[in-house]
Amino acid sequence: MPSPAASAPPKPAEPFLPFTRPAIDDATIAGVAEVLRSGWLSSGPQVRAFEARLSEHFGGRPVRAFNSGTCTMEIALRIAGVKAGDEVITTPLTWVATSNVILEVGATPVFVDIDPVTRTIDLGLVEKAVTPRTRAVIPVDLAGLPVDRDRLGALAKRHGLRVVEDAAQSMGSAWKGRRIGSFGDLVSFSFHANKNITTSEGGCLVLNDEREAALAEQYRLQGVVRTGHDGMEVELVGGKFNMTDIAARIGLGQLPHLEEFTARRRELAKAYFEEFADPAVRALGLGLPVANFTDSNWHMFQVVLPEARLKVRRAEVMEEMKAAGIGTGVHYPALHLFALYRRMGWKDGDFPNAEYAGRNILTLPLFPAMARADVARVVGALASILRKHQKP
Ligand SMILES: Cc1ncc(COP(=O)(O)O)c(C=O)c1O
Repeated sequence: MPSPAASAPPKPAEPFLPFTRPAIDDATIAGVAEVLRSGWLSSGPQVRAFEARLSEHFGGRPVRAFNSGTCTMEIALRIAGVKAGDEVITTPLTWVATSNVILEVGATPVFVDIDPVTRTIDLGLVEKAVTPRTRAVIPVDLAGLPVDRDRLGALAKRHGLRVVEDAAQSMGSAWKGRRIGSFGDLVSFSFHANKNITTSEGGCLVLNDEREAALAEQYRLQGVVRTGHDGMEVELVGGKFNMTDIAARIGLGQLPHLEEFTARRRELAKAYFEEFADPAVRALGLGLPVANFTDSNWHMFQVVLPEARLKVRRAEVMEEMKAAGIGTGVHYPALHLFALYRRMGWKDGDFPNAEYAGRNILTLPLFPAMARADVARVVGALASILRKHQKP
């Protein structure tokens, strides 16, 4: 006979905690069903309404919606006149989309290292990388922490550069109290499913004037310009980058929640700092993000593992976190070390800060529906895994 203890049912595992999860309310789901019944699924009234709301959100600037935050940047570069022979300066610690679009328009990416504290592009190095061929800079607000817009604006002005802000992760972020997107040059956002607000897939571009907005529309849909009932002209090569009404309806349901989502993310980020402040956890030597609770939208909470102190690599830590029921992510490996970019001449050692972060950065769970107790659970699990693998 098994003892009562041995026959007791196993303790139910805590539900798996993903590193992120979208929050779509019932009204939005019902709204999407209405669109599906309406007979108009592609770009139509929902897209126009979403663009109008986004424009209000960004202080009246023209905004156009697209089917990804990647094509928004490619189109922004085209609008800025970036072409073959031009150089565009950006960071190697970003989603590879940021530099792929530079190649897509025929220009040359020029990478400079990150600041290890902010993990975003080192603006001092940008200044040094400017050449007569430099046409634009693409700063990336990694995890929603804004790159210094004052320094960036001054630098661009000094050198006559266009700025395409890769604000894919910055919906809800601000710079000194001003919403990212409400000022600046061309500002590109993503509404991918993991972003702070989503349209499942999608993006939008904030533009300077109606001329640029008209160009964006052309690049968005085969270069077509329509007039009257049957007039159609094509003067440039456009693509197929329009947003659907289904996606736009999701966005219309998400946008009113942005402030509340951002506030909740900031609360949870504060909770992470409280947990990481425990002296026994601090002693583990993890790199923490900048504790900014006013301008960052806390798109992600990322730590940097203390490589030299650990007997294992990041993948093993992730595996053990998963076994503990906790999802983690990598955002991002340093992209100049991808095969495509190595073939163009970049190599190990080119950007030591980005490479170190690329090997050791780890995204922990953070999304509005998370509980305070989840934060403690994540930090507890991570600390015990790291403790187990500390070098003597
Ligand atoms: C920094 C950054 N740039 C660009 C993109 C591209 O956006 P999308 O996935 O909507 O094409 C993303 C999103 O994944 C991103 O995080």
